[in-house]
Amino acid sequence: MRKKLAAGNWKMNGLLENLSEIKSLAATAQNSNCQVLICPPAPLIHAMAQISGDIAVGGQTCHANESGAHTGDTSANLLADCGATYVILGHSERRADHGETDTDIRAKTKAAWGAGLTAIVCIGESLAERKASNTLDIIGGQLSTSVPDNATGENLVVAYEPIWAIGTGLTPTLDQIGEVHDFIRARLERRFGQGVGRSVRILYGGSMNPKNAADIADVSNVDGGLVGGASLKAADFSIIIKALG
Ligand code: PGA
Repeated sequence: MRKKLAAGNWKMNGLLENLSEIKSLAATAQNSNCQVLICPPAPLIHAMAQISGDIAVGGQTCHANESGAHTGDTSANLLADCGATYVILGHSERRADHGETDTDIRAKTKAAWGAGLTAIVCIGESLAERKASNTLDIIGGQLSTSVPDNATGENLVVAYEPIWAIGTGLTPTLDQIGEVHDFIRARLERRFGQGVGRSVRILYGGSMNPKNAADIADVSNVDGGLVGGASLKAADFSIIIKALG
């Protein structure tokens, strides 16, 4: 199995002055068994990558095309050119704010792979879907459409992020997390074969914090975390990195 991944998603937070958080994380990242990753807003990627050392840098989305008339969008090639090695795709905030569908995410994932980036494909159910006991159906459908063929443990990470847990302070029970992660693992093994299926890292995301990270990290098939709010301050994120490592 690959190293666990502690991924920070800064969302639309951070200014140039916040690049100092990276310096505060450096020692923790160096001494950790985890791969540490920060995904800042796109304009910060280049400057962050200059100083990030052992910490990987990633984007939060990319366009499916290599270039062209798409005002405001960023290509996967440019992310890579600026020093990114990962890109988050299909985050529920992108799905909600920009109408991204599973089909769009599949195309973006192909673009990310074309640029040599590792895609972190996000999937997760709404509260209504969980209450209706549809969680595994939703997750299975998102996984099969959003992830293209030819996935490997190198080019793909899957992040399970229940929408109702993001930024709310609510989390599923450890059993619920385990059920979904085991299901994702089984689906990956069925589709891509056991070797590849086992090597794709599956992250949990949604209100992960310094207090709950160690318990979540112990759940079967949890290979890391995708952390929003608690990744913004190096002091909090360091505790999570240690819990995952
Ligand atoms: P949160 O966000 O940790 O603030 O809940 C996680 C995410 O959206 O990736």
